[in-house]
Amino acid sequence: MTHRHDWVSSPAGPLRGELAVPGDKSISHRAILLAALADGTSRIDGFLEGEDTRATAAMFRAMGVSIEAPSTAKRIVHGVGLHGLSAPGATLDCGNSGTAMRLFSGMLAGQAFNSVLTGDASLSRRPMRRVIDPLVAMGARIESEAGGLPPLRIEGRAVLRGVACRTPVASAQVKSAILLGGLYARGETEVREVHPTRDHTERMLAAFGWPVDWEPGRARLTGGHDLRATDVVVPGDFSSAAFFLVAATLVPGSELVLRGVGMNPRRTGLLGVLRAMGADIVVENAHDCAGEPVADLRVRHAALHGVEVPADAVADMIDEFPALFIAAAAARGRTVVRGAAELRVKESDRIAVMARGLRQLGIEVEETPDGAAIHGGNLQSGSVDSAGDHRCAMSFAIAGLIAHGTVRIVDCANVATSFPGFAGCANDCGFALRVVDADPG
Ligand code: S3P
Repeated sequence: MTHRHDWVSSPAGPLRGELAVPGDKSISHRAILLAALADGTSRIDGFLEGEDTRATAAMFRAMGVSIEAPSTAKRIVHGVGLHGLSAPGATLDCGNSGTAMRLFSGMLAGQAFNSVLTGDASLSRRPMRRVIDPLVAMGARIESEAGGLPPLRIEGRAVLRGVACRTPVASAQVKSAILLGGLYARGETEVREVHPTRDHTERMLAAFGWPVDWEPGRARLTGGHDLRATDVVVPGDFSSAAFFLVAATLVPGSELVLRGVGMNPRRTGLLGVLRAMGADIVVENAHDCAGEPVADLRVRHAALHGVEVPADAVADMIDEFPALFIAAAAARGRTVVRGAAELRVKESDRIAVMARGLRQLGIEVEETPDGAAIHGGNLQSGSVDSAGDHRCAMSFAIAGLIAHGTVRIVDCANVATSFPGFAGCANDCGFALRVVDADPG
């Protein structure tokens, strides 16, 4: 892990120019995973060079998959086929990545060898019962720590059978774990969701030649097919673009163009909410790329007003709430978030971390179990704790840009899990963000 450091973000701007954000994290994980299990060689372009996605590649290397990295953001994966993985010699370390742990649990449940999945302190607090229960119902043998917490011990040689299940929470990771278990199961596996979530697994399985029948909120496949190697072009991560959409909206005089951003409708809920708040964001050059919609986004400064975030937008913007909290803090009036209890079990409790940080900066926030009411106001200078959560850290960097004075953001090293190079990228378009040693001298 990158060594511990803080950021100091100062008022600056306007933000101007063009940038391409790094590759999509969800799609990068899935591209490595399906390419590793495919027959033949797949090329991945636009791969996210983040700690999370590199951890996924490292775990497959530990199971005998040869993965070349000919240059930045490129990978060549020599797939070993659905049954070609070998037993890892050691525990598999997912680092900070809930996606890796949950997707791997489904895939490893179908292997002929035992395996153990661990993670860092944050991941070790995250709920895994949600994947263990449906996989056990399929015949998997998985043990966890008390309360369904990692590490997960997965016994090989289980005979998996397809099930029809309904996910208890809206979670693409849970849906994907079940579908990946379903690749190894006898018969049909069907997942119905309480609310539709991102469908990158379904789209990519289809691209690798596995028949999948899906529509928003439902996916179905049968075991016993093969994955065929294919080349994947990973779009820019909408969740990384989100910080720049909010920042350019808030800083007067800004105009930014974000190139090649993934526009999967299950990911772009923030767009609709920002627009409802008054944002000026134009979608240009929309096209399809390797089964995923992609576009350029032009964002100009606009004054925002508070809104009630519709409950049915929550899943489509689940990773964008930290950034939305900053937009809400700078908006006129009150913004209300409900139905977002999942935010409490992300890399941190994002409701608590964002509410605490915003209060630190002089903003009134009322927390509820499943959301918050944020009263827009004037952000003051101060020190906030990101709690080691990459998305909270990047969101507070935006707060510094528009506050009356500098904002120190404590514990920002985890930004490298999803957006390595964020500080440089931000400064290139007009932020004034300094990286400072957490423990000088
Ligand atoms: C992800 C799904 C979401 C999201 C996470 C990535 C994925 O998590 O928050 O950052 O790649 O499937 P949940 O499935 O827990 O909602």
